[in-house]
Amino acid sequence: KRVAVLISGRGSNMQSLVHAAAAADYPAEIVGVFSNRADAGGLAFAAEHGIPTAVRSHRDFNTRADFDAEIEAVLEGWGAEIVCLAGFMRILSEGFVERWRGRMLNIHPSLLPAFKGLDPHGQALAAGVTEHGCTVHWVIPALDDGPAILAARVPVLPDDTADTLAARVLVEEHKLYPEALARVARGEAWLD
Ligand code: GRF
Repeated sequence: KRVAVLISGRGSNMQSLVHAAAAADYPAEIVGVFSNRADAGGLAFAAEHGIPTAVRSHRDFNTRADFDAEIEAVLEGWGAEIVCLAGFMRILSEGFVERWRGRMLNIHPSLLPAFKGLDPHGQALAAGVTEHGCTVHWVIPALDDGPAILAARVPVLPDDTADTLAARVLVEEHKLYPEALARVARGEAWLD
């Protein structure tokens, strides 16, 4: 399956997908990396690995729908069949999300449905939970919502800060996203 990854920053999850896809038996290939920010660190990694990149600033478009139509055109150019959101910090329009329904995944660093939105690690610490983690889920119009494909758990330790907790979760994210994408690409996971 041909997979496009949408990023806004560091792109470490995108990198984990690229590394996984390098294996001969992996059922997906990363055909392009899109960023809404020219300074996204992940763009250099993609370019070094020979993966096409595209940058479009949402600021250059009048409406969300116009911006999303541009993303759609880029994805079509790459022949993308699956979209992976990986630290993509823009909300996508309902029309875009519906068009990619059952073909678009996101990773969120919490055990959904807990701690949606911004600063999930800070939210987890404030809530005093003893267990936290990350979830790969189908994208539906509601933010950080949609059925889970896979989740991974980590303990919350007494001395944790948002940063130490985020680092522990990130290790799991980098294993979870390639596994979830593989299941989707093989047709082992689907959205009803
Ligand atoms: C990750 O924690 C991801 O779960 C969240 O934003 C972060 C992005 O990190 N949505 P990276 O850009 O993949 O390194």
